[in-house]
Amino acid sequence: MADEQTQDQGGNGNVATARESLSVTDNRTGKTYELEIENETIRAMDLRQIKVNGDDFGLMAYDPAFTNTAACSSEITYIDGDAGVLEYRGYTIEDLCENATYLETAYLLINGELPTQKQLEDWVFEITHHTYVHENIKKFVEGFRYDAHPMGMLLATTGALSTFYPPAKNINDEGERHMAAVRLIAKMPTLAAFAYRHNLGLPYVYPDNDLSYPGNFLSMMYKMTEVKYDPDPRLERALDVLWILHADHEQNCSTSAVRGVGSSEVDPYSAVAAGVAALYGPLHGGANEAVLRMLDRIGTTENIPDFLEGVKNREEKLMGFGHRVYKNFDPRARIIKKNVEEVFEVTGVNPKLAIAVELEKNALDDDYFHERKLYPNVDFYSGLIYEALGLPTDMFTVMFAIPRTSGWVAQWLEMVQDPETKIARPRQVYTGAREREFVPMGQRG
Ligand code: CMC
Repeated sequence: MADEQTQDQGGNGNVATARESLSVTDNRTGKTYELEIENETIRAMDLRQIKVNGDDFGLMAYDPAFTNTAACSSEITYIDGDAGVLEYRGYTIEDLCENATYLETAYLLINGELPTQKQLEDWVFEITHHTYVHENIKKFVEGFRYDAHPMGMLLATTGALSTFYPPAKNINDEGERHMAAVRLIAKMPTLAAFAYRHNLGLPYVYPDNDLSYPGNFLSMMYKMTEVKYDPDPRLERALDVLWILHADHEQNCSTSAVRGVGSSEVDPYSAVAAGVAALYGPLHGGANEAVLRMLDRIGTTENIPDFLEGVKNREEKLMGFGHRVYKNFDPRARIIKKNVEEVFEVTGVNPKLAIAVELEKNALDDDYFHERKLYPNVDFYSGLIYEALGLPTDMFTVMFAIPRTSGWVAQWLEMVQDPETKIARPRQVYTGAREREFVPMGQRG
C-alpha cells in the first residue's frame, strides 16, 4: 500500500491515504507500482507497465459487460444508483418532468444549458420544419412485409437516412453535426409513425407543423378522415413527460453502441441506427414489451404467488425489475407510476394495472428481491401507458427510441468533440488453441 498513511479524523482505526494514488504490488515479481487516481478511477493503461519481463504484454483489466469500467468521461447525465438520483446536466429528472417540455430537455442535453425563450422558439421551429422525410423513405417502408416488427423498420430507416444526407459524414463540420442532430430528433417520430401505419395497412400521415412535437406524433399515428387532428392536451403532456424520462441514461447498452460505432467516424445516422439495434433487445428497450407479455401470462392477481415462485426458481425473470445501475428505486419508475394514473383518466383504467400494482407490492415484500436490491425500473409501468394509448406491444420499444434519440445525439456530439476519443477497440483474453497443425479433410472427424 502507499507508504504515506494517516489515521482518519474520526479515530475509528480506518486508514486514509494522503495521496491520490494506488500502490499495487505484483507478487510474481515483488515489484510495487504507484497508479494515479483521478475521479475515483485508475487508468487501465497504467496497468500495462506491470510486467513479469520485458517481452511481457503487460497486465490488463478483465471486465466482461463493462460492469466496472468507465469508457469515457461525460458532462451529460448523472446517476447515483444507490440513492436513486437521475440528473440531466445537473437538473433533476423530477424538476425537468415538472417544468420542462421534451424539446426543451433535448436542447439542454445537446447544448448543456436550458434555452432562453428565443433559443427555445428557434429550436422548436427548426425541429418542426425538419419532420418531413424524403418520399423514397416512404417507398422504402412500403417495401417491408405487412407484419414487419416496427423496431426492425425503424432500425433500417434510421440507417437509410445516411444515404439521403451524405454530407453528414463530415463529422468535423459543426454545421453538419447540428443539422444531423436536428434531423434525427425531428424525423424519428415520422419514421416511427410510418412503421406503425404500415403494420395496420393505413396510409401514412404527413407531419402537421401547427402541432406540438408530441401532438404531431399523435396526429401521424391516429389521424383518420378528419381534416385536422386535435390531440388531447392531457395525452400530449403525458407523452412529453414519458419522453423526458427516456431522453438519456448515460452509458447504457444502446448509448455505448452509438459511441462505439460512432468512434469509427461513421456518419451520425449510422451510429444512431446502432443505438436503435441495441435498444431492440429484451434486456434493454424491449423490456417494456416483455412486461406486458408477462402481465398477460399472469392473467389474474391470484396467479402472482406462483409466478414469483417461478422467478425465484430461475424459470423466468420478473421483467421491469432490476437495473445494472439502480440498486434502489429507479426515479423514473416513480414518475411514470403517477403518469399512468393521469393517462387512465383519459383512456379508462387498464385491468392489467391491478396485476402490476399487486405484483410490485408482492415482489417488494419478498426477501429474494430485497436481498438482490431489485426494484421496479422505468419499463415496469411504461408499457401500460402505451397500451392505454392503443399501441400494440411491438410499438413499445419504438416509443423508447423516439426520445432516446436526443440522448444518443448528445452523447455522439460529446464523443466526436472529445480529444480523448479514439476508435473503440476492446482487448480480449484469448483462451483458445494455438499453433495447431492443419488437418487435411480426409483425416478429420
Ligand atoms: N428478475 C429476477 N431476478 C433478477 C432480475 C429480474 N428481473 N434481475 C436481476 N435478477 C437477479 C439475478 O438473477 C441475479 O441473481 P443471483 O445473484 O442470485 O445470480 C441478481 O439479481 C443480479 O442480477 P444481474 O443479472 O447480475 O444484474 P445485471 O446488472 O447484470 O442485470 C438487468 C440488469 C436490467 C439486465 C436485469 O435486472 C434484468 O434482466 N431485468 C429484467 C429486464 C428489464 O427490466 N430490463 C430493463 C432495464 S431498465 C431500461 C433500460 O435501461 O433499458
